[in-house]
Amino acid sequence: MTQARRPKVVVCRAIFPAIIEGLRQHFEVVDNQADVMWTREQLVAHLQGCHGAFTTGGERIDAGVLAACPQLRVVANMAVGYNNFDVPAMTAAGVLATNAPGVLTETTADFGFALLMATARRVTESEHYLRAGHWTRWRYDMFIGADVHGSTLGIIGMGRIGQAIARRGHHGFGMRVVYHNRSKLDAATEAACGASYVSKAELLQSADHVMLVVPYSAESHHTIGAAELAQMKPSATLINLARGGIVDDAALAAALRAQTIAAAGLDVFEGEPKVHPDLLTVPNVVLTPHIASATTPTRMAMASLAADNLVGYLTARQAKTPLNPEVIGSAAAQERMARA
Ligand code: DGY
Repeated sequence: MTQARRPKVVVCRAIFPAIIEGLRQHFEVVDNQADVMWTREQLVAHLQGCHGAFTTGGERIDAGVLAACPQLRVVANMAVGYNNFDVPAMTAAGVLATNAPGVLTETTADFGFALLMATARRVTESEHYLRAGHWTRWRYDMFIGADVHGSTLGIIGMGRIGQAIARRGHHGFGMRVVYHNRSKLDAATEAACGASYVSKAELLQSADHVMLVVPYSAESHHTIGAAELAQMKPSATLINLARGGIVDDAALAAALRAQTIAAAGLDVFEGEPKVHPDLLTVPNVVLTPHIASATTPTRMAMASLAADNLVGYLTARQAKTPLNPEVIGSAAAQERMARA
């Protein structure tokens, strides 16, 4: 008797070896533990004959890739953000898209505060000064920064992560929290977060610290540009935890250099891993390489969720966190399933 061929999946970037081993229990696995950065052509070449793909947020999955990979049935992103996916194209092609929400909320919110504290209190700037041997005596005004406790925190984007940041600000730091979002939260959620809904202009004008946690889309591109920076207080800080492209990085660098705002903390960048050269030369910005979710338990939970989605869909036609659940059982999906 011939055994049914096991589905084949590609893991597009290096990942915890235990995750690869877990996937091998179910699938023929092509890994990339050498962590080679595949071009689009190399990605398509690796996806040939594959039924599932494990992506980490950087691999673009669009109509062209889907047409070139007729066996592909599911792509699982190890990230809550999924701006690397063209979800409508995936739906039309009958390919399930999944992301990794929920498991990184608290860790990312913690990092929002790490970046806020480092930015407002000039932690990295003063550390560089000390390491360079410039510290010879204490001065009353050395690296004077802004208070976080008791100040006004403005959050743009009030999903799970925005709410977790609001809770920290309100309950932990006694902050007045205002937010702007596509939709106003219900009263109970607002009360739990200690947050009030305001217009974007009011938020920019009143906040001492502005935190960005809005998902990236064509509509949210350059949510903060020169016009918005001009509305902020000269003493304000801006924190971007969301995605590159939410902020116009060139306009931000100009505002930081001119000190029309006091400081910024950035974990994400337009065109990352490239960083706008002007941001590298202004002192009043804290720069980190997209690490907001980077703790061992959280990265493991994100990877496990992505792996569970691949296993669930390819073995039982179900997924824990589908972005386009209408694909499951659709005619387009059946057509792909019928291909070997
Ligand atoms: C996410 O999950 O979207 C984080 O930015 C990590 O990529």
